[in-house]
Amino acid sequence: MDDLLSRLDQLQKETEADSAGLSDATLLEQFRIKYLGRKGAIQQILERLKELPPDRKKEVGKRANLLKAKLEQIYQEASGRLSAGQVRSTGDFFDYTLPGLQYSITKLHPLTVVTSQIVEIFYRLGFELATGPEIETDYYNFEALNFPAWHPARDMQDSFYLDNNYLLRTHTSPVQIRTFESKKPPLKILAPGRVYRHEAINVRSYSTFYQVEGFYVDKNVTLADLKGTLFAFVKAFYGEKIKARFRPSYFPFTEPSAEVDISCILCTGKGCSLCKHSGWLEILGCGMIHPNVFRNVGYDPEKWTGYAFGLGVDRIALQKLRIPDIRLLYENDVKFLNQF
Ligand code: PHE
Repeated sequence: MDDLLSRLDQLQKETEADSAGLSDATLLEQFRIKYLGRKGAIQQILERLKELPPDRKKEVGKRANLLKAKLEQIYQEASGRLSAGQVRSTGDFFDYTLPGLQYSITKLHPLTVVTSQIVEIFYRLGFELATGPEIETDYYNFEALNFPAWHPARDMQDSFYLDNNYLLRTHTSPVQIRTFESKKPPLKILAPGRVYRHEAINVRSYSTFYQVEGFYVDKNVTLADLKGTLFAFVKAFYGEKIKARFRPSYFPFTEPSAEVDISCILCTGKGCSLCKHSGWLEILGCGMIHPNVFRNVGYDPEKWTGYAFGLGVDRIALQKLRIPDIRLLYENDVKFLNQF
């Protein structure tokens, strides 16, 4: 057997191994160059045919051409498979006709939207933004806000204590104290933020939620200023037709204290399940800042007066967007969030 025939045998084995791995365009092109290219293995054999005597030439030439036809077939089939997308391209082959990946454009979270709507309205009324830490001391969260030692909110059951002194703030009111300590009146501040309460979780209450705290300290600030500001907010946020009422309430750090209800946005006061058939929805707590709070931060209560309010962002969002369960706001289910 002459050496061209054994070379053909060897090639045949090699191509069998190579043709099994034609999984992308780069490998396929390498295959073509190696066997079928102008300087490829087949061409090299064909060029050496002239060295052979005529009878050998015929035999070897026939076998070389058979192998060449076989290789061309393997090449065509593999290239057909690749462009049909049956084998993924990993090399420089790229099918520009494939549809692109669909990324959904995300939306702002309903709580973010409602918070910024609230902030924007108060911004127009002259309030500046402030923030405070979510881990607070007992002093800022309770003591300085005139919470008596016996107050149930200080109980371990209602607050998430980290140790004897530190706890997760249960409201945004500690930002009042921090601001009073670092600034001199007059001041007009808005402090949105996250708060935490150790409460039984149900459709209406969760272990964390959001508040927007607002407070204004100046000379001769009155309850009428508070009412005027909050009613202006309610009209701007809910529209001119909404009705609002002040209902007396109690907070240790305000005196007098009140809560503001709005006429039910669903039944407009007739009574429905949203307003629990009362016709009203509670949206915030407020009052005139207690003189003890001023004393605690070194403001003269004879000289300075002020009001404060704390809006419940979640409650407002649930009502406005008709969301039936507060937990939906914290589960981050994209299918739910994309509705808003
Ligand atoms: N901090 C009170 C609460 O969490 C709300 C409030 C804020 C009341 C400011 C009066 C003044 O319920």
